[in-house]
Amino acid sequence: MISKRIKNMTPSATLEQSAKMAELKKQGIQVIGFNVGEPDFNTPINIIQKAEEAYQLGLTRYTPAAGMIELREEICKKFKKDYGLDYTPKDVVVSSGAKQSLTNVFMAIIDPGEEVIVPTPCWVSYVEMIKLAEGIPVLVSLDEKDGFRLDVDKIRKSITEKTKAIIINSPNNPTGAVYSEEDLRQLGQLAVEHDFYIISDEIYEKLIYDGERNICVAALSPAIKAKTITINGMSKAYAMTGWRIGYAVGPAQIIKAMTDYQGNTTTSPNTPAQYASIEALANSEGSVEIMRLEFYRRRKYIIDRINAIENIHCSTPKGAFYVMPNVSYFYGRKYKNFTVNNSLDMANYLLEEAKIAVVTGAAFEAPENIRISYSNSMDNIIEGMNRLEVALSKLK
Ligand SMILES: Cc1ncc(COP(=O)(O)O)c(C=O)c1O
Repeated sequence: MISKRIKNMTPSATLEQSAKMAELKKQGIQVIGFNVGEPDFNTPINIIQKAEEAYQLGLTRYTPAAGMIELREEICKKFKKDYGLDYTPKDVVVSSGAKQSLTNVFMAIIDPGEEVIVPTPCWVSYVEMIKLAEGIPVLVSLDEKDGFRLDVDKIRKSITEKTKAIIINSPNNPTGAVYSEEDLRQLGQLAVEHDFYIISDEIYEKLIYDGERNICVAALSPAIKAKTITINGMSKAYAMTGWRIGYAVGPAQIIKAMTDYQGNTTTSPNTPAQYASIEALANSEGSVEIMRLEFYRRRKYIIDRINAIENIHCSTPKGAFYVMPNVSYFYGRKYKNFTVNNSLDMANYLLEEAKIAVVTGAAFEAPENIRISYSNSMDNIIEGMNRLEVALSKLK
């Protein structure tokens, strides 16, 4: 029999959508994938070469559970260079993707019944990870009218004596929102005052537009740094989703607990991918900028197109590669025998009628929205927007 722990778990909606799409593709139906959560670029060649070298040189054994010292040193250098922060390798654990670091941190700090505040819309896996660690997710909804900014007053009201942590994500998946320094500073002060941790998922840190910059929460003050665990990884900035390297940086005691857990569950992350990650962090700024500029170009096109369609609107997010239009106007409307009553119906309708795959906002606690990823070629984006426009115009 399956454990209650797993039975209570909701499968990842984004991965389920990919499976549906693969099925249609197998039937020869051309679906445009606006559901993807990964860059559509190839990993830069200098990074690939470092992994090849590692294979050739036989650098294919286990590494320390926390990851190679050289990689952890490179991560420390990055924090110094980008944010002026001082960390040492004992403050860093490298994992098989940021996802594993996130799971590790919840396992390391949450006791059964402790609460973790989750501002929503939020990335699909946070709630499930918190539940796995027997914590209680406390959802706090952010307002679309404010561009989903971090509303610290709302967060303050959800603090109880059981609050152990808050998980935040800026730039945000799915909204693309980039939190302001002022809001993050207020949150930091709240965490210090009420003695809870900030888990700051900054995996989209390099994908920011319009002159905005990532505010690294830990850099706001030494007291806030002592309460913050930063999560990051190679997947989004360096187009390395399949390499599975992420990391966590924070107070040494917590990093040690995460490392102990990781040591017993997966030993250590992939070794050649760790060599490649050193190269990514040290020598890939140019490639990241090329990808960022291309995302920027696509974002502008997609937002202009969406906002030109009647009865659907979308704010201009400052980061990541997602937009999240509000489609609630169409709820209750139908075409032929398909009625759209909610965001899941909308995702299914668009897949069937327009052959475009989007993700239901409900998966991110945003029931009035759908998430569209612009990590796709410009040609596909143009065609996909044409199809979206036609399909929505049929709903009466
Ligand atoms: C907000 C957020 N955090 C973490 C991850 C996980 O990234 P990784 O590939 O490093 O596990 C993702 C991937 O979609 C994400 O969107």
